[in-house]
Amino acid sequence: MMPDAWTAPTPDALSSMSAEPLLTREYDADPALVYERLRSRYGPVAPVDLLGVPVWLVLGYSEVLQVLQDKSGAWTKHLDNWRAKTEGRIPPDWPVLPAFEVDSSVFRDGEALRRLRNAWTAALAPFQERTHPQAQMLENAVRKYADDLISVMAEGGSGAGWADLSAQYARPLPLMVANRLLGFESARGDDVLMDAWRMLDAGPDAAAASDRLFAAMTDLAMAKMSNPGDDIPSYMLAAVSDLTLDELTREILMVPGLVADFTGTLICNTIVEVITNPDVRASLSQGIIEETVNRVALINPPMANLTFRFPTVDVRMGRFTIAAGDPVMVSVAAAHGDPLFGGAMNRNALRSTRAHLAWGAGPHHCLGQRLATRITAIAVSRLFERLGRMRLALPVDQLPWRPSPLMRSLRSLPVQYEVVQAYTPPADTQARPAAEPEPSAPPAPTAAGEAPISALWRFLRGLRRG
Ligand code: HEM
Repeated sequence: MMPDAWTAPTPDALSSMSAEPLLTREYDADPALVYERLRSRYGPVAPVDLLGVPVWLVLGYSEVLQVLQDKSGAWTKHLDNWRAKTEGRIPPDWPVLPAFEVDSSVFRDGEALRRLRNAWTAALAPFQERTHPQAQMLENAVRKYADDLISVMAEGGSGAGWADLSAQYARPLPLMVANRLLGFESARGDDVLMDAWRMLDAGPDAAAASDRLFAAMTDLAMAKMSNPGDDIPSYMLAAVSDLTLDELTREILMVPGLVADFTGTLICNTIVEVITNPDVRASLSQGIIEETVNRVALINPPMANLTFRFPTVDVRMGRFTIAAGDPVMVSVAAAHGDPLFGGAMNRNALRSTRAHLAWGAGPHHCLGQRLATRITAIAVSRLFERLGRMRLALPVDQLPWRPSPLMRSLRSLPVQYEVVQAYTPPADTQARPAAEPEPSAPPAPTAAGEAPISALWRFLRGLRRG
């Protein structure tokens, strides 16, 4: 007789488990507590209820790595493998669904994924390799965006003020970078910027904004196909010349999310760390800001949980057997809290391990890590150069977090500050207007012919407080 060990285990029926809801008030306030409770109750893999849909949540560091780094084909991101969805058991208005419906490289495997990632790698290289003129111009532009935003924030104040650094700085800055990376040459970039914002906020006008955004990205992709420039869509086309219009549109649609939302979140989380940790603050002046950014990504990963993976065969993991086609959400944040990950989470350590998973791992790992780190480092350094005595306007444990199954991101970051350095434009003018604006002046059209981003600046001025 065959020993028990040879008998294929029956998969655990996810839908019949009484899983606890993941997104609760407690989760918003302190997700680490929830991960630890799930870990002690279920082990490294736990069933959870994600807004009414049962999902496996992977909490163990080695289990997360096992899923992310799989090369055997046992795991896929292709949505056709999601059994409950193909069987029509996912409500069409399930709020997380739009995040999955982009249908870009994020949900591809194998050769199809490699082709699209080749386009990304080539398109990002000129902006990420610091010796490349594009990268240097981008750095200058990021500094200028930072200076303009700080100037508008401090405009009309008497040397001190109150600001929401999320709405007034950390979110608009990378959106402006996204606009530049996309190569918008007309005032339309301004509208797209605002629509990207509406879509990311998932408010009542998000659906209409997302339709407009798709149309704008299709037009942009079409324009770059006939008239390429120095931007991500054109560089993608140059690298993979048979990219279709639909493929290019869906890839560049990711730019506002990746560059603006992810990087904006990292900027906010880094600002909080600098304000609340005096050692980290000291490290700014020692020029180790990029190390601080890496450490913040480790302690508080912006993408706390990743979009689903699906096993292609029944898989034994932790205390369960996960059936082929079940949705599996890998939790980077929970994996970082796994005691097996060691003391890497020691909040008092100034330097951090690079074995963390905040940038993903395996075939889908982040291709924009260096760019995002650079943008964040410039944004945070410039802020603390120009504004001093910065303190949170709320106790750190009362900061409001955005309820989201994927992101760990602040809804607002209220601070009080004093202006310590007025705007002094640097000598170089590569990314700057021929005539520099006064600190309090609205940004003028740039020498490169970019249109003034009036609606955005009107909106930002509306947010100012004394
Ligand atoms: C300049 C900004 C950024 C760009 C251009 C960028 C680009 C990308 C690209 C192209 C992918 C691959 C998608 C795929 O193959 O599925 C990716 C994945 C990823 N990125 Fe980034 N990224 C940026 C910022 C960030 C930031 C700030 C974080 C968080 C610290 C981050 C975390 C991740 C993670 C965790 C993944 C893997 C997702 C998964 O495996 O499901 N990215 N990024």
